[in-house]
Amino acid sequence: MSFLKNSFFISFEGIDGCGKSTQVRLLSEKMNSESVNTLVVREPGGHAISEDIRKILLNNEYFNMSIRTEALLMASSRSQLTKDIIIPALKKRSLIIADRYSDSTLAYQGGGRGIDVKWLISLNKFATYNIEPDLTIYIDVDVEEGLMRRKIKNSDRLESLGYEFQEKVRNQYLKLVKLFPERIVTINGMQSTEEICKEIWEAIMNRINLNER
Ligand code: ADP
Ligand code: TYD
Repeated sequence: MSFLKNSFFISFEGIDGCGKSTQVRLLSEKMNSESVNTLVVREPGGHAISEDIRKILLNNEYFNMSIRTEALLMASSRSQLTKDIIIPALKKRSLIIADRYSDSTLAYQGGGRGIDVKWLISLNKFATYNIEPDLTIYIDVDVEEGLMRRKIKNSDRLESLGYEFQEKVRNQYLKLVKLFPERIVTINGMQSTEEICKEIWEAIMNRINLNER
């Protein structure tokens, strides 16, 4: 059995189909088996209000949603999740694992949609009450691989945007890695699920101390 000395907030990022959700699941299973107090959230969503906002955001019928509406809804979803779920968990010595957080807005609405990234950084600060992940795991795959991996699933409004869009998103992620080198760790997502899982574990163990009780 282990416990955390302090709270720790990890976000997972990458283009659609990079393998984030798989790794979030594996990490939370591992942390649970170590009896670490773990909270898993996803974005957009993770709170009743935010899950309702998610339904609007991913609805294929809203193909004419303006990109500003999209950016503001992403921020609204994040704001509610942060205030009611993430901040209270941070106060309770928890490990928080988020399947996407602020960087998704910088990559998708910034890189993908072309909204000014500096402005989005300010929007994120407002939405998150200045909370930032302690560590961000960016799983990098090329666009072909991401598209291939999620071929079997039905695409939602954002996933239907295709190759060019995903490429812009990926390029923006690669810029973010350079912009925030202390926080973001890049993992080569073209490896096997097991290899990726091992590298992620090592990156986390370099930063947190799981004390034996
Ligand atoms: P995301 O949450 O990033 O969209 P998922 O974790 O849902 O991605 O993975 C998308 C698909 O790719 C799933 O079918 C999953 O089983 C598969 N997958 C995940 N990781 C790998 C990997 N390292 N190699 C091959 N396929 C993978
Ligand atoms: P989801 O089905 O959760 O995709 P994934 O499994 O790839 O995470 O859908 C979330 C979609 O919303 C995804 O295409 C990324 C997009 N998104 C943004 O455009 N901006 C954001 O700030 C967030 C959090 C997600």
